[in-house]
Amino acid sequence: MSVKKIGILTGGGDCPGLNAVIRAVVTRAEQRGVDVLGIRGGWRGFLDNDTEVLTRQRTRGILHEGGTILGTTRTNPFQEKGGPERVVAAFAAWKLDGLIAVGGEGTLSLATKFHERGLKVVGVPKTIDNDLSGTEATFGFDTAIEVATELIDRLRTTAEAHERVMVVEVMGRHAGWIAVHAGLAGGADVIVVPERPTTIEEITKVVLMRRAEGKPFSIVVIAEGALIQESDAKEAHLVLTNIAPDAFGRPRLGGIGAHVARCIEDATGIESRTTVLGHVQRGGTPTARDRVLALRYGARAMDVLADGKSGVMVALRADRIVEVPLAEATKQRKTVDAEWLALADVFCAGPGLAP
Ligand code: F6P
Repeated sequence: MSVKKIGILTGGGDCPGLNAVIRAVVTRAEQRGVDVLGIRGGWRGFLDNDTEVLTRQRTRGILHEGGTILGTTRTNPFQEKGGPERVVAAFAAWKLDGLIAVGGEGTLSLATKFHERGLKVVGVPKTIDNDLSGTEATFGFDTAIEVATELIDRLRTTAEAHERVMVVEVMGRHAGWIAVHAGLAGGADVIVVPERPTTIEEITKVVLMRRAEGKPFSIVVIAEGALIQESDAKEAHLVLTNIAPDAFGRPRLGGIGAHVARCIEDATGIESRTTVLGHVQRGGTPTARDRVLALRYGARAMDVLADGKSGVMVALRADRIVEVPLAEATKQRKTVDAEWLALADVFCAGPGLAP
């Protein structure tokens, strides 16, 4: 069957490089004689019939821009009345021969479900969290760690001047990739990740040790999804300020930094402050590396569909763009492994990290 028209959507949290993917898809589509329909607001566009025709003209000048010209939401059609059937019906009504779904865990798990319902779908891995299995890299991550590292550098000078502890809360959901990379690059004294539950005592030990060695300030980088182990509790726990889950039933993370800073100050008497890096990590212009990765993913995703293939995600392996089964992307979360934790142990006298 020849491919004449495809759709593209961007779903989940935005991240730098989405526009580069859209531009790549449209550029390659034009070369292959395929029309592109942009579906606005992620999967919501299917339910609300909210679309826009994408042409080369429309996608000129957006390569370096953050955000997404298509908008994005965390809409889950499986949570809406008749949602999945409405998506399938819209796909047919718009006469699509395929769909490129650009997203992270939530968007790609939906892409997998619609592939199983017979739609021709190709996934593109996007997330600052870098937590998708099946690929060595997701675009957006490089920008996030660049931003976080720069901010840690800035916090270091003020921490040193005031002899304070700076607790820097970074994003990453239940994976500690941003914390480990930005923490290592920013020379953090402690890195706390979800993959290794940590006690407050382990953190304060480092802070006090540094003070005893004549370094009265410390930088503690903590992932929003880190788990704190209280001495009197059986299980380590998340610290959340917002308990309402998102459309995929996942907790909205955030708040652990303030809790940990309070505990450090109580335990050590050293003034401890928190900075939540939050959405600045995924705002603004993508790094060159993310732009190029996004362009490679977009062009290949278009070729895959135009060649009549689907049910796959484009992925990076050994610096080559390859195709992996869609289901592989979300089968298992890619988390920080022992090798990375061991590297953090070398450079941080961190909780349980001290060599
Ligand atoms: O998945 C990307 C991400 O930025 C996570 O790191 C974070 O937990 C979440 O999205 C925040 O989502 P929202 O923008 O909906 O608050």
